[in-house]
Amino acid sequence: MNADKLSKIVALCRRRGFIFGGSEIYGGLSSVWDYGPLGARLKKRIKDIWWDTYVEKREDIVGLDSSIIMKDQVFQASGHLQGFADWLVDCPGCKRRFRMDKLEKAGQDCFKCPECSHQIDTKKNKPRQFNLMLKTNMSATEDEPYYAYLRPETAQGIFVNFSNVLNTVHKSLPLGIAQIGKAFRNEVTTGNFVFRMKEFEQMEIEYFVHPSEANKFYKYWVKERFDFYVNKIGLKKKSLRLREHEKEELAHYAKSCTDIEFNFPFGWSELEGIANRGNFDLTEHAKVSRKDLSFYDNVKKEKFTPFVIEPSAGVDRTLFAVISDAYCEEEVKGKLRTVLKIKPQLAPYCVAVFPLLRNRPELVQLAKNIFCDINNSVPAVYNDTGAIGKLYRRQDEIGTPFCITIDVDSLGDGKVTVRDRDTMQQDRVSRSKVLEFIRAKVKGGH
Ligand code: GAP
Repeated sequence: MNADKLSKIVALCRRRGFIFGGSEIYGGLSSVWDYGPLGARLKKRIKDIWWDTYVEKREDIVGLDSSIIMKDQVFQASGHLQGFADWLVDCPGCKRRFRMDKLEKAGQDCFKCPECSHQIDTKKNKPRQFNLMLKTNMSATEDEPYYAYLRPETAQGIFVNFSNVLNTVHKSLPLGIAQIGKAFRNEVTTGNFVFRMKEFEQMEIEYFVHPSEANKFYKYWVKERFDFYVNKIGLKKKSLRLREHEKEELAHYAKSCTDIEFNFPFGWSELEGIANRGNFDLTEHAKVSRKDLSFYDNVKKEKFTPFVIEPSAGVDRTLFAVISDAYCEEEVKGKLRTVLKIKPQLAPYCVAVFPLLRNRPELVQLAKNIFCDINNSVPAVYNDTGAIGKLYRRQDEIGTPFCITIDVDSLGDGKVTVRDRDTMQQDRVSRSKVLEFIRAKVKGGH
């Protein structure tokens, strides 16, 4: 584990306003995190790229925004109330509690404690099952409670709306229904920053297909989603790998599943799962709700329950991967420079604008005017709160690809200095050409 890198990332995220601890002024809330001004921007960019790629630009996928709170019957049908649980065991040495599937075996019925190396004998320390569902009381009174659940995956909102969508969009199969939204799990193994949270956000597509085509589309989505991370999000190919699930680790609903793993500071871990869920969900919801959730193919005169291929991505893990992959430390003239080399399309700001001297009103005014012009076209930020070196360092740390400085010469020749985040090269460019210059650099694979 690269603990040093992890703690540096956590510190940078806090210092620069990407991510704060949840309920922090009251001591924090375990595994709950808040996104600050820059984190909120980065998160939105990730979601926008995903939504644009799959919902806006494709004929075969439509969007949905279903509710977080759902009826208990939904999760009886989906199997989450019965099967969505972790086996936990207590270590008799350090008294900490662990997920059994994450422990290293130390013999028949015995595991090794990852904290204190004590032997955990499961015959003496009986494992217990903990359900991961978060429950909420929807009744106004405590004595007559009415319990509902916060969804543990956005997917169930799609399954329960399958026939609503089908009857309103008038499309044939294959048909994808996509949704971005919050999901909740009472996770027991916590830590590792925003990798495992109790409240997190998912980007899921349920892609409904004819059963005979399920395998073909399963393979298609594994490749498509891997390529998305490389081409659209800008993660390095070498930081990603595919891992197919063994039969015994498959979720209760899945026929097959491949994880896209990312090399996080604590090692290779799941970034996204692509599963073939078969017709499990529609069949179970049809049974419990007694509604017909099958599909009728008008052309082939065939009625069947579609299979579903599900690429299920986490927004928080993607953001974490983006920051981790982009994080660089370089030595420049004997000093350490920390840079986030984020793809310009994703960076919280694409351009930062500064006056070289903040005590010269004409420079400040010109810089503010240039900032307004640029911000109409690309996300920009104005700053005059420090010396130029400090301003550059701040923008490097938040991943701003270009800084524009307005100096005394700019007043005369109408030119500004554009500094490139990655090469630190500085170019004098006339004010009227600056956007064109930046766009060309971004297009050229900055
Ligand atoms: N609908 C399928 C499903 O939910 P999953 O593998 O449990 O499958 C999908 O979750 C993705 O959601 C994961 O790959 C991860 O990116 C994200 N995710 C799951 N649990 C999470 C948690 N506790 N904190 C942050 N992200 C999580």
